[in-house]
Amino acid sequence: MKQVRIGVLGCGTAAHFHAAAFRSSQKIKMMSAFDANYENAKKLADIYNLTVSKTYQDMLKNDEIDAVLITLPHHLHTEPTVAAAEAGKHILCEKPMAPTLEECDKMIKAAKKAGVKLMIAENHRFLPAHGLIKKTLDDGLIGKPLLVRGYEGVDETPDLSKPEHWKGSPEKAGGGVLMDAAVHKFAILNWMLGDMASAYCWLAKQVIKLENKAEDNAMTFLKFESGCIGEIVVSDTVFSPPNNRLEFYGTEGTILEDHSWKKPVQIFSTAKEAGENRHQWFSPEVEHDTFPGYYIISFHKEDEHFAECVLEDKEPVFTPEEAKNAVAVVLLCYLSAKTGKIAIWSDLEKVASTKGTRSIIKGLEKVAI
Ligand SMILES: NC(=O)c1ccc[n+]([C@@H]2O[C@H](COP(=O)([O-])OP(=O)(O)OC[C@H]3O[C@@H](n4cnc5c(N)ncnc54)[C@H](O)[C@@H]3O)[C@@H](O)[C@H]2O)c1
Repeated sequence: MKQVRIGVLGCGTAAHFHAAAFRSSQKIKMMSAFDANYENAKKLADIYNLTVSKTYQDMLKNDEIDAVLITLPHHLHTEPTVAAAEAGKHILCEKPMAPTLEECDKMIKAAKKAGVKLMIAENHRFLPAHGLIKKTLDDGLIGKPLLVRGYEGVDETPDLSKPEHWKGSPEKAGGGVLMDAAVHKFAILNWMLGDMASAYCWLAKQVIKLENKAEDNAMTFLKFESGCIGEIVVSDTVFSPPNNRLEFYGTEGTILEDHSWKKPVQIFSTAKEAGENRHQWFSPEVEHDTFPGYYIISFHKEDEHFAECVLEDKEPVFTPEEAKNAVAVVLLCYLSAKTGKIAIWSDLEKVASTKGTRSIIKGLEKVAI
């Protein structure tokens, strides 16, 4: 196989980001599009010269398709992933993996059983700025991380304001902004700083007052197993360009990251490993562009990696288990918001083994204050 021939399930916003990345790739060829809304599939198909599949099952029967991209709403990730695996197709599925841990497990099990690649499209794992931060931490430039702060803010109010839209619906989206956006932060912080042990979370519903929608703003406090503590703030009601920030404070220095900066990472290090940069702020060169540039860069790198995994029979660097773990941290935070108490990992395990984790997302629309 020289190119991965891919079919797209769900032709909304995320599909267009991926399609642009596929077009600039030698390793991927887009073949077919499917969407419950024919107009959405037709629009993507017309731009990229694709066939339109009537059902996703039709697409899975097509021998000319090696893999599928799943860019459907969160609650529709599991069933097509399992069906695609059973049909022998590799799967690139958007984040969050699924709204419950049980669904994540089904996806992992189906892909393992079929021997196909399953990669969750966590584009933040493929941002060069994040790779630079990971290396800076691993090289010991800031010593032992003590404190981390993270932020993502976007304006999702147009879709959230529609009562029937899946966004913000606990049943369909598995919650609000925390499930949608903080899952990115949890995926990369687990990678950079190790596992999280406990969480305390506040959910707020300040702009979107619809009864069937969950939080539009969230603030969560975390403790990592390493002892590092953190604060993650995510918002769906930011009326300036989308942005992301991270701050790390360690025993020997500081890392600041802001995606709206041309050079997104600034480092101050008192460690000898910093060499000639010791005791001054410095900003290493890294591939980056401000919004929407960092989306384009990260989607391209992520999609190329997926294609390489299929073509070269490699396992994705961002494993499905890591993607499940990021969902687990979201659920840990929701558990805290529901009980008003700090939630620890064994609390989540207890719910998972008794009532199931869907019980955590049920009723979230009433939890946001
Ligand atoms: N990594 C990122 O930065 C990023 C950005 C945007 C979206 N996403 C993810 O991509 C996924 C899709 O988000 P989006 O913003 O593209 O959503 P969207 O609402 O723009 O698009 C979803 C598409 O799915 C279709 N659809 C809905 N129900 C369907 C069904 N039952 N069968 C077939 N098609 C159906 C809709 O018609 C629509 O075209 C989500 O999981 C989201 O988290 C990720």
